[in-house]
Amino acid sequence: MKPGKNGSQLGFHHRPDGIWCDNVHLDSLAKKTGTPCYVYSRSIIDRQLMRFASAFKGLDVLPCYAAKANNNPEILRHIAGHTELSWGIDAVSVGELHLGLAAGFRADQMIFSGVGKQHSEIDLAVERGIVINVESLFELDDIIEIARSRGKLAKLGLRVNPNIDAHTHPKISTGLKKNKFGLSREMFDVALRRITEAPETLQLAGISTHIGSQITDVSPWKAAALQLVQLADAIHAKGGAALEFIDFGGGFPVRYDGDNEPPGVEIFSGIIRDSMAGAARPETKRLRIVVEPGRWLVAESGGLLTRVIGVKERFVVVDASMTELIRPALYGARHEIIFACNPTLPAVPSNGEGEGFEIVGPVCESSDVLASNIRIKHVPKKNQLAVLMQAGAYGYSMASNYNQRPLPAEHLIADDKVFTIRKKQLLLAPDPDLFDEPLDLPL
Ligand code: LLP
Repeated sequence: MKPGKNGSQLGFHHRPDGIWCDNVHLDSLAKKTGTPCYVYSRSIIDRQLMRFASAFKGLDVLPCYAAKANNNPEILRHIAGHTELSWGIDAVSVGELHLGLAAGFRADQMIFSGVGKQHSEIDLAVERGIVINVESLFELDDIIEIARSRGKLAKLGLRVNPNIDAHTHPKISTGLKKNKFGLSREMFDVALRRITEAPETLQLAGISTHIGSQITDVSPWKAAALQLVQLADAIHAKGGAALEFIDFGGGFPVRYDGDNEPPGVEIFSGIIRDSMAGAARPETKRLRIVVEPGRWLVAESGGLLTRVIGVKERFVVVDASMTELIRPALYGARHEIIFACNPTLPAVPSNGEGEGFEIVGPVCESSDVLASNIRIKHVPKKNQLAVLMQAGAYGYSMASNYNQRPLPAEHLIADDKVFTIRKKQLLLAPDPDLFDEPLDLPL
């Protein structure tokens, strides 16, 4: 962790009296607001924003933040307001489109992705001039119908599925033929023809791909980038479409517990520079570059603050659970965990199976394990605080109400002050009127 402005550490770290985030003592925060809750360091997001700007310096780039990683309105507003480089957004639902617009992202810097876009969602995108990343031919039919009825020109991207194995966790791989995402090459060519035949309704503004998340082996990403550039060359060689952008997708990785240092964003910008330099057509070289980083921007900024409820044998039961952070249960993800005044030992050796502690939540599922086989110098004590790290991405945004648990609060540390940027959810009693009247359906 790098030092902050006045030499203090940024992000989550130990000091002799407990865990701190930036210059905020998390014990006082927890006493004031309760646990579990998410805590974010705005300085870490700023560090990532600046690093991104420097890695892509000299390129005509539009980074579109994948809002699904963390859709807190205040965090979105902060990214939208970044002054070093203008950011857009990659949205996947009408809800995210509205959040993006409300946060101040420009409609013409938004991209709408997803395999099952509904009528009302396409309608909003067409109305606001938002680029729709087309992922099927049936979607193209719907767009044509909606754009015609509105008398508007729909701006499109075509997302190609390159059938490339991203060498990542199978549940976050998106670029293989067996994954539901994007257009196969055959479908891509059909879509291209249909767009060319309807110039008064459809404008092909760009092409895109996204082969998966948490890409730690860059060779597949490089292969997909090359394929995309060749596709742009082929489109330009045929004439007709005047592309504006080429969208290389997201997938920039972060370091989770036990991982080696993953390739940095500079490696990805380097691949893009090289692939663009290798383009055969000058029109391709001039395209605006779009990328869609999600977790890379926000994962490290966030931690899930939790308190130990009690310890029995190897189980440390904490007040956070899979309802606040589902990644360990869903993907076997390993989030580093730190305990107050009780630093964890270095990585558990692989033969250490069964030696460490299981950090578990109160939910009635055996899979409610937040961290597994953790070696700690001292047995954690009741009420001790702990933080699950790298939880700023796909943490809160994947949280649920399972076991009737409320969604937790989110707090942002900015300039050494703490702002509550989402209140803990109030779970209301069931609506007593719900079953009084039957639905009025034709029989
Ligand atoms: N662009 C598209 C079209 C995407 O589908 C995604 C992620 C991204 C960009 C951003 O990917 P990132 O840079 O964050 O890796 N819940 C999973 C991740 C699912 C990602 C889905 N799509 C997790 O917790 O790891």
